[in-house]
Amino acid sequence: MLKTESERDLRPGVKPQLPKIIGHRAIASLAPENTLGAVREAARQGVKWVEMDVSLLADDTPVIHHDPTLERLSNATGTLCEMQLADLAGVNVAARFEGWGVEPVPTLREMLALLTELKLGFNLEIKDQGLDPARVVAAIAPELCAFDPARLVISSFSEALLQECQRQLPELARGLLLSELEGNWSDKLESLQAFSLHSHWRALNEQTIAQAKAVGCRVLTWTVNDIEEAQRLLQLGVDSVITDIPQQFGSEYDRELDEAQ
Ligand code: G3P
Ligand code: MG
Repeated sequence: MLKTESERDLRPGVKPQLPKIIGHRAIASLAPENTLGAVREAARQGVKWVEMDVSLLADDTPVIHHDPTLERLSNATGTLCEMQLADLAGVNVAARFEGWGVEPVPTLREMLALLTELKLGFNLEIKDQGLDPARVVAAIAPELCAFDPARLVISSFSEALLQECQRQLPELARGLLLSELEGNWSDKLESLQAFSLHSHWRALNEQTIAQAKAVGCRVLTWTVNDIEEAQRLLQLGVDSVITDIPQQFGSEYDRELDEAQ
């Protein structure tokens, strides 16, 4: 049975006001992904929120990086969950981004400080690198304490990681990432008390968007790098589009957010 708006609002926790456009890996088309420099570039381009990925090192330091290893992006090799923070000294994750200087692997703490300074919202995606979910969330949780919860959504493909967020960080908005919308996906949103569904754009249509909204969830979609497709999805009722090209969307997309914040 469909819930009324007031019943949905009984769901606990902070409900951030989402922007229409979120920069994927900060602003992947213009700057080396998941870096401090990329976040500064996103802010320069007028982007209001960014999505970035977090993983744990062997010493439990949460760092901002997409892959389990350093090979694809950097001048170094190694598996993050087997490395200490000191092992990252000298690593340049902009090494393969032509025309860019040096970018370190940022810690989550450094990134949160920069996002706060720039007043940016944050979709923090927790990557499942096969570590104990309780350990991962326990390492991330204290870092998030000082960050404005009204500008934060935590997401993951891992239900186990989101269940840990539900247990350890119940107030913070949680989003379930799904590549396909099959089976009992809306039941999963309900049992996680998810704030949002983060769906691959191909899985979204009028019916799946309505189904997500019927369980009280906002709908975010990734990674949409075609402006017409993004406009179509927003018109269908999608709340936020995660894109590598946020700079190509006019400022009119997030004017309401400017007024509110
Ligand atoms: O959070 C949306 C999107 O980032 C999920 O995929 O692989 O780019 O982290 P990926
Ligand atoms: Mg991601």
